[in-house]
Amino acid sequence: MLQKNRIRKLPKDVADKIAAGEVVDRPVSIVKELVENSIDAGATSITVEIRRGGKEYIRVTDDGCGIPKEDLRLAFLRHATSKIVDENDLFNINTLGFRGEALASIAAVSRLEIITKTINVKIGSRLQIEGGNIIGEGDTGCPDGTTVIVTDLFFNTPARKKFMKQDGTESALIIDFVSKIALAYPNIKIRLINNRSTLFSTRGKGNIHENILIIYSKEIGDKLIEVNNQEGDYQIKAYISPLDLNRSNRKSQVFFVNGRQIESKVLDKAVSEAYKERLPEGRFPIVFIFLTLDPRDLDVNIHPNKKEVKFYDSEKVQSFVVNSIQSALYSKSSLPEIKPKHMYTEKVKEINRDYEQVDIKTLLSNRQQADNIICKTEESKELKLSEINITGTIFGTYITGFDEDNFYLIDQHAAHERVFYEKLMELMEHKNSDSQLIISPFVIDFPLAIKAQLPNCIVKLREMGYVLEEFGPRSYIVKAIPSFMNLSEARIFLDDFMDQIGTNVDNRNVDKIIINACKSAVKANDSLTLEEVKELINDLIKTENPLTCPHGRPTLIKLSKYEIEKMFKRV
Ligand SMILES: Nc1ncnc2c1ncn2[C@@H]1O[C@H](COP(=O)(O)OP(=O)(O)OP(=O)(O)O)[C@@H](O)[C@H]1O
Ligand SMILES: [Mg+2]
Repeated sequence: MLQKNRIRKLPKDVADKIAAGEVVDRPVSIVKELVENSIDAGATSITVEIRRGGKEYIRVTDDGCGIPKEDLRLAFLRHATSKIVDENDLFNINTLGFRGEALASIAAVSRLEIITKTINVKIGSRLQIEGGNIIGEGDTGCPDGTTVIVTDLFFNTPARKKFMKQDGTESALIIDFVSKIALAYPNIKIRLINNRSTLFSTRGKGNIHENILIIYSKEIGDKLIEVNNQEGDYQIKAYISPLDLNRSNRKSQVFFVNGRQIESKVLDKAVSEAYKERLPEGRFPIVFIFLTLDPRDLDVNIHPNKKEVKFYDSEKVQSFVVNSIQSALYSKSSLPEIKPKHMYTEKVKEINRDYEQVDIKTLLSNRQQADNIICKTEESKELKLSEINITGTIFGTYITGFDEDNFYLIDQHAAHERVFYEKLMELMEHKNSDSQLIISPFVIDFPLAIKAQLPNCIVKLREMGYVLEEFGPRSYIVKAIPSFMNLSEARIFLDDFMDQIGTNVDNRNVDKIIINACKSAVKANDSLTLEEVKELINDLIKTENPLTCPHGRPTLIKLSKYEIEKMFKRV
């Protein structure tokens, strides 16, 4: 393209609008910047008020340190900040802000008023800015702290104004953001007002669990499992869903690192890994993760809106999170529980599986309850499968057992599937097939259509312990089978495996085929003797994920001794 114009410096207001676009793209980003400033200012109480999705009105009030009168104009200059001094500070950031850009950006695209007072002066100061230009300034009586009011967002950038969504969509994003901030900062009282009514208000007493009950639903809050772990400089606090509570998307996964809400592929992966094979496909856990690391272990300056961070040792972070979650999941409190209300109440209130993050109705009704809640932090005892006394089976399907606190039902098929699957995967991984020759070899046929895939499959089957030899154009003779299977299991598994071979046998498909074939194979084993049951449980104990079958269904459910005593009205 031919350039017609000479190069010239853009007028300040145009440059400001361009720069503002990086920081402020919709109402929620303004709320985020203002709330983060309040947190950095050491506030113990923050009120956020919005009207019409924040498009018309946003107010953030805090009781933090305030801005000295002589610095107030400076706070609105681009790259003016009190939070870092030089380049070295960039590698050790202890505050949420550090760019000195937020206030300048917000003021460039709205009408803004700030009222602020530091503790050591009697009278506060006020500044009014419209589209970046100061239009009013003076002294004012006000409490310690800072209030920023932003009105008419994007009044001077019509293109951006058009891109804002309906009020409800914009306010949902803000409610979601403030809710999460309230969880991450349990020591700060946070109040959210939407269209003149209070949505929630936390007490600032440091109790995250209580805040979950206030902001989210009681049903969820009561079920989440608490995770606490520390290793060297790494510290994690988290609330995670048990296996029977899950969602159809990742929206209920919230990550905070050093008090900063972020999106992170590393943490996404850690969560998937921790719940791998424990949830049905396409289902995701609810997790609130609060990680604290040495600020020098990460870079927060990789994205203009600070939504991402770079961990210097992402593998270490990932495995720390995976281990912390897994050990909590492998505790008694993480098992699906039989609750008496399920037995006696006719209308069991279904938990809406696709429940959105913030349900205002429950939120409002829980607010009153929450004021009276005495938070019970139940010690989550480790579940030791080996300590379960097996007593027998019922309905030919469920194994019964107990330990000192609970009665357990174990789904025999699910347990068996888990054992089979892990044994096969281990054999394949180590490529040390463990076979038993069979006295009377049998023949299996295959459809010609899959012939091209067979060499690949034969290798996999050999790794599992099958020895097959060609036996005519569309048959194999099976001479040995995996040593842990009996003949009928081995036959059914093989038939099912062959049935499922499609066109592409890449590694992922083989896993799936094996998962499905395990399911068929264990059907062969319906009535087990007590000895066999105990052997199965012993095998289950040795697996990596004993609490679910490879399809993600639970292997074990519990009914606590306390619930039993309650039903018999003994307590
Ligand atoms: N609520 C507040 N209370 C006290 N001081 C504040 C408050 N908000 C802003 N300030 C002061 O104004 C300065 C500029 O704020 P601004 O948000 O523009 O930049 P920042 O927070 O330093 O960096 P960033 O652009 O990354 O947010 C801050 O460094 C801080 O000194
Ligand atoms: Mg800031």
